[in-house]
Amino acid sequence: MSARKGSGALPGVGRTAFVVAAARAIATDRPDGLVEDRFAGRFVRAAPLPKPLPTTVAEVGAEDGFWLRLADYQGVRSRAFDDGLLGAARAGVGQVVLLAAGLDARAYRLPWPPDTTVFELDHPGVLAFKQRVLDGGVAVPIARRRSVAIDLADDWEPALTAAGFDPDRRTAWLAEGLLPYLSPEVEERMFGTVDRLSAPGSHAAVEAAPAEVIAAVRARSLGPALRGHLDTDVRELWNTEPRPAAADRLRGLGWEVEVESGVEAAVRYHRPLDPGAADSMGASLLLTARLI
Ligand SMILES: C[S@@+](CC[C@H](N)C(=O)[O-])C[C@H]1O[C@@H](n2cnc3c(N)ncnc32)[C@H](O)[C@@H]1O
Repeated sequence: MSARKGSGALPGVGRTAFVVAAARAIATDRPDGLVEDRFAGRFVRAAPLPKPLPTTVAEVGAEDGFWLRLADYQGVRSRAFDDGLLGAARAGVGQVVLLAAGLDARAYRLPWPPDTTVFELDHPGVLAFKQRVLDGGVAVPIARRRSVAIDLADDWEPALTAAGFDPDRRTAWLAEGLLPYLSPEVEERMFGTVDRLSAPGSHAAVEAAPAEVIAAVRARSLGPALRGHLDTDVRELWNTEPRPAAADRLRGLGWEVEVESGVEAAVRYHRPLDPGAADSMGASLLLTARLI
C-alpha cells in the first residue's frame, strides 16, 4: 500500500512500526527482559500483514537468530530511552513528544508523574490503526495522551500546538527508529523545529545510526527475515543520502550531547549483545541531549 498523505491509509513506512513492535514483544517474552511492553504483541497480532510477524521466543523458533538479535537490541534501546524520559519527567519536565511514535506504548506502560502529557506524532494511518487496537482493549493511559497526526516532512508545529503543546514549558523529545526514514533536509528542519520549540532545560533523546551501521544492518539478514511478512522492503525506505551526524546537528544548535552506543548501553544494563548484533544494529548511537 502506498503512502497517501493526510489519509487514514497505512503508509509503507508505517509498517516498520510493526517490525519494532514485534521485536519489543519478543524482548518482553525474554526471561529477565529489559522492557515490559504488553501492548506490542497485541498491535502485531492485529497488523494487516501478508504473513504474521513473530511475537514470542517460541514463534521465532529456529529462525536465523535475526529476531533474537533485534529483540535484544530493541530491549536495550527501549530501556535506555524509558529511563531517560522518566528521569526527565521526574525532574519536572511535563511534556514528552514522541517524534514518529509508531506503536510506542510508553504513555500506557511507564509510571509517569501526575500531569505528564505525552504527545504522539506519526502518520494519520499509523495512529488510526493504533487507536483501533487500543480501543479494542481496556487500556488506560498513565500519562495524558495526545495523538498528533502529521507528516514530519510538512510543517507540524501548528498541529502540535493545537494539541496543547506549550513551548514555554520544558519538553523531553524522543526520535527512536526514525532518522533513517528522513531525508537530510527533513531531518535538519525537524531538529530546527525541536530546538525552536524547546524551553531551556529541555531534553532530547535520539537514536542515530551512522552510515556504516545502516550498511551493516542492510548487509545482514534484515531482508530475508522480513521477506513475506511485509509487502514492503524496509531497506528501500531508508534514505542513505549523506548528512551531518545528529550529535553535531544538536551541538550546533547549542545542545549538550552525550553519546552512548547500543553496545555500551547493553553492558551498562548487564545484557551484552551477541556479536552479530554488536557489529551491526548494536553500533547505533543513543544520544542524550540537554538545552541549557
Ligand atoms: C521503525 S518505526 C519506529 C516507531 C517508534 N518510534 C518505535 O520505536 O517503536 C518508524 C516510524 O516512523 C514513522 N515515520 C517515518 N517517516 C515519517 C514522517 N515523515 N512523518 C511521520 N512519521 C514518520 C513511521 O510511520 C513509523 O511509525
